[in-house]
Amino acid sequence: MSVEKAYNVAVVGATGAVGEKILSILQDKQFPIKSLKLLSSKRSAGKKIMFDNKEITVEEAAPGSFAGVDIAFFSAGGSITKQLSKAAVDAGAVVIDNTSAYRMDETVPLVVPEVNETDIKEHQGIIANPNCSTIQMVAALKPIQAAYGLNRVIVSTYQAVSGAGNAACDELQEQSQQYLNEEEMKAELLPVGGDKKHYPIAFNALPQIDVFGENGYTLEEMKMINETKKIMHAPELSVAATCVRLPFFTSHAESVYVEVEQEGLTVADFWKVLDGAEGVILEDDPSTQTYPTPMSAANKEEVFVGRVRKDLDNDKGFHLWVVSDNLVKGAALNTVQIAERLVRNNWL
Ligand SMILES: NC(=O)c1ccc[n+]([C@@H]2O[C@H](COP(=O)([O-])OP(=O)(O)OC[C@H]3O[C@@H](n4cnc5c(N)ncnc54)[C@H](OP(=O)(O)O)[C@@H]3O)[C@@H](O)[C@H]2O)c1
Repeated sequence: MSVEKAYNVAVVGATGAVGEKILSILQDKQFPIKSLKLLSSKRSAGKKIMFDNKEITVEEAAPGSFAGVDIAFFSAGGSITKQLSKAAVDAGAVVIDNTSAYRMDETVPLVVPEVNETDIKEHQGIIANPNCSTIQMVAALKPIQAAYGLNRVIVSTYQAVSGAGNAACDELQEQSQQYLNEEEMKAELLPVGGDKKHYPIAFNALPQIDVFGENGYTLEEMKMINETKKIMHAPELSVAATCVRLPFFTSHAESVYVEVEQEGLTVADFWKVLDGAEGVILEDDPSTQTYPTPMSAANKEEVFVGRVRKDLDNDKGFHLWVVSDNLVKGAALNTVQIAERLVRNNWL
């Protein structure tokens, strides 16, 4: 980035799956950092992390941690955001939050820069990063909405275990080993750490991500529904979601059905708007078996779209396969991109 000024940055949850990615992306993109504070719980306080060839000692996050901080990235869970974000804002920082704590708060912009960059400037100290499965879907939907209008979205997800954090990845690894050794698999975390029952994820598929609400949808499904409408400024858009966890480590995949407003469109019309759309790469050629997969999308920045098909019965219906790295565009990269636009546009 070509910005002259440098900023005092803090990362809350720096030792977690998302926090580690935020650090590596800040470094890769050479975000202009004057000072960097790494914060975690008591467990990791004292740990040393290398950043830009310097060793930084992780500190326990506390309300007093934010003096002089300009930008605070939060990814330590919603309760920590609720506990500490006000102290960060009062100290003069802009908080970019990866948790769901404030996503649906009307005073907090919920941003995917390719879709609603200008919402950033409305911030009152906190900007929310959407849910990982929502980010990749709206990035693919935006060019379709802009060109052809959008009436309806029905999505089924195929989500990676890293979406549930580092401990869930360990659980998949251990259970896989146990299964191959013909031992009993120990399920202690997934689908949801705090819920009553746990099921093995290894060699399985769990149709529950986050807890159930009274309407029978999980919180993850409701996040996709509500966040999509907010980010796309489309309260009337009809959205339904089914979210499923699968036993691979990285990248979420989604089967997305859309109904557009315009009649008579073809697959080529979809290719035309998706190909070259900001942050989107079209990988779609059945003749060469070309389509994105969680493995091919891992560690990449873009949202990959393939398998575009016209519905066989509904002239306005189309099916897409959307894949992106949940820790990169789905979390850390989107967060850093928000910070880049914040400073580039002087919206701090
Ligand atoms: N994984 C994803 O794909 C993804 C995507 C988008 C958003 N998110 C959200 O981002 C947040 C973090 O997710 P994650 O996957 O990175 O989780 P994670 O791997 O479990 O990491 C959690 C981080 O939070 C820190 N933490 C825990 N309790 C804390 C406390 N009391 N005070 C300060 N720091 C504390 C941990 O520090 P210790 O090392 O000390 O335990 C660790 O750095 C969650 O809210 C999650 O929903 C995750």
